[in-house]
Amino acid sequence: MNVVTPGLDRPWLFEAFPGLQKQLPWTPLVEAPTPVHRLERISSLLGKEVWIKRDDKTSSEYGGNKPRKLEFLLGEALAQNRKKVVTGGGVGTNHGLATTIFGKKLGLRVTLGLFDQPVTAHVRNNLLLYQAFGAEMKYMGSALKAALRYYLVEKIRQRSAYPVPLGGSCPLGALGYVDAGLEFATQVRRKEGPLPQMIFVAAGTCGTMAGLVLGLRLSGLNTRVEGVQVAPSAFANPKALLRLARKTLTLMRRLDGSVPGVQLNLVDFPVERGHYGAGYGHPTPACREAIQLMGESEEIFLDPTYTGKTFGALLARVRSEPGEGPVLFWNTLSSVDLTPVAQSVDFRSLPVAFHRFFECALVE
Ligand SMILES: Cc1ncc(COP(=O)(O)O)c(C=O)c1O
Repeated sequence: MNVVTPGLDRPWLFEAFPGLQKQLPWTPLVEAPTPVHRLERISSLLGKEVWIKRDDKTSSEYGGNKPRKLEFLLGEALAQNRKKVVTGGGVGTNHGLATTIFGKKLGLRVTLGLFDQPVTAHVRNNLLLYQAFGAEMKYMGSALKAALRYYLVEKIRQRSAYPVPLGGSCPLGALGYVDAGLEFATQVRRKEGPLPQMIFVAAGTCGTMAGLVLGLRLSGLNTRVEGVQVAPSAFANPKALLRLARKTLTLMRRLDGSVPGVQLNLVDFPVERGHYGAGYGHPTPACREAIQLMGESEEIFLDPTYTGKTFGALLARVRSEPGEGPVLFWNTLSSVDLTPVAQSVDFRSLPVAFHRFFECALVE
């Protein structure tokens, strides 16, 4: 495997396990470490220390959880000299948008296979942004058909393209969050943030939480990470999380024998299912309240699909079981405002199959 030479900074992963640096492709995208701070107003409202990890600020081009995964995935696409990347998701996929933005930056053409989800303003914004950043967009209908078509047709038809799984969640992508776990443990050691009693993070395709838990355990932190289900339980469940975390650890240990064989069990991957609501992308009352509270008190913007549900679950837990130590909300949504870019695109310039997403009523 070719190795991409890291830029000025290198991931914490290579600091901790130098043997990995020679083996793993990586391209720098993340402005690390992202800040950790107390949510002052929310903490006093709740009478409990609530902290936030600002992964909304992973990049000034497009933040959120995706750039961390793409450092390894697009690193591998470049190392394999691919010119094109194929991936997919719901019509509002943030993963698809991040892949498009960073793919373009790295000279890779991106094709997105997009399937139905409830049409919110965020979904429309993202559709316009795929077009603005030059993605090739293919409409795939319902989620089930899309999954079949993505795996059976696109991967065969576009053999030369680098296939990125949905959400970038595979062992290589999850390494981005192993790295985030090491980064956070360093911040705790430096007393830039507290050792939380509990961390709340969204669980969709699971690469974020699986990697994070592994990274924390490799750093010797036993903090409980609570996944909040935001995607169908076929994807977001403790077994899927455990499987992905174990595969990621196996990959690391195969490449560098100095990586310790930490024990990972189902209890390390609890998933809160009570905030999923009617389905993927369907807002719930608790999620709307969480979005409003975070916006009004802290001026931090959350979304109804992922982070609103996750912060809603944190609020409910803190209110019902106040507990002892601080809790931490891991923000995985980009806070870079690309609305002006989206507004420069006329939806009629998108492929015709997508026009109906601008002609239907919005889900509020
Ligand atoms: C903003 C945001 N948060 C969380 C997630 C879930 O992350 P994962 O798919 O790694 O579980 C996603 C996935 O698309 C996302 O876009």
